[in-house]
Amino acid sequence: QGVTLVDHPLVQHKLSLMRDKSTSTASFRQLLREIALLLTYEVTRDLKLTTTRIETPLAAMDAPILEGKKPVFASILRAGNGLLDGMLDLVPSARVAHVGIYRDPETLEPHEYYFKAPEDLGDRLVIVVDPMLATANSASAAIEKLRERGAHDIRFVCLLAAPEGIERFQKAQPGVPIYTAAIDEYLNDHGYIVPGLGDAGDRLYG
Ligand code: PRP
Repeated sequence: QGVTLVDHPLVQHKLSLMRDKSTSTASFRQLLREIALLLTYEVTRDLKLTTTRIETPLAAMDAPILEGKKPVFASILRAGNGLLDGMLDLVPSARVAHVGIYRDPETLEPHEYYFKAPEDLGDRLVIVVDPMLATANSASAAIEKLRERGAHDIRFVCLLAAPEGIERFQKAQPGVPIYTAAIDEYLNDHGYIVPGLGDAGDRLYG
């Protein structure tokens, strides 16, 4: 409950290519961008519509358009940007928040080093993006910070989640729905998702 598994065949196929350790940086980046389109399609599925009066070449009509303010995509740096690029391909007018967080490799505690977001977070749907939900420390820290700045309508999108991460996330952030392309087997002693795909930031950017 609260977790949407986006297991469309195209997503599964592309994800398998991403997991393969012989996949190049260029292909990895392109595949993440492509999967991001399909994840965005799902996370925006229930956005509210209104209508606007337009004229087609043949007739006038009340045509559906999105209601309200544009959503904010909040990317957890660095790896979030790999998903962000594809999401902006599909929703080019979205606003963007950047949250710089790195995970201490020993303690797995999140450390924030950058934050910049639109002022009116409280008036917008905020979709937080990071390819990996491992311990969920990073996602939770990012969401706490966004809440401090007014966000309350929040969703989280990732590529891979560990079962442990989902459990911890739901305890820490009840009411924030998760959209993921896969739920993997477990989290190893170093906080890596297994079988996973390695370190998403490194595979994207080196
Ligand atoms: C990785 C990943 C997530 C986080 C997930 O980031 O991209 O942000 O770890 O782990 P968690 O759920 O246990 O917090 P990393 O710290 O490697 O930074 P990077 O994206 O800049 O490579």
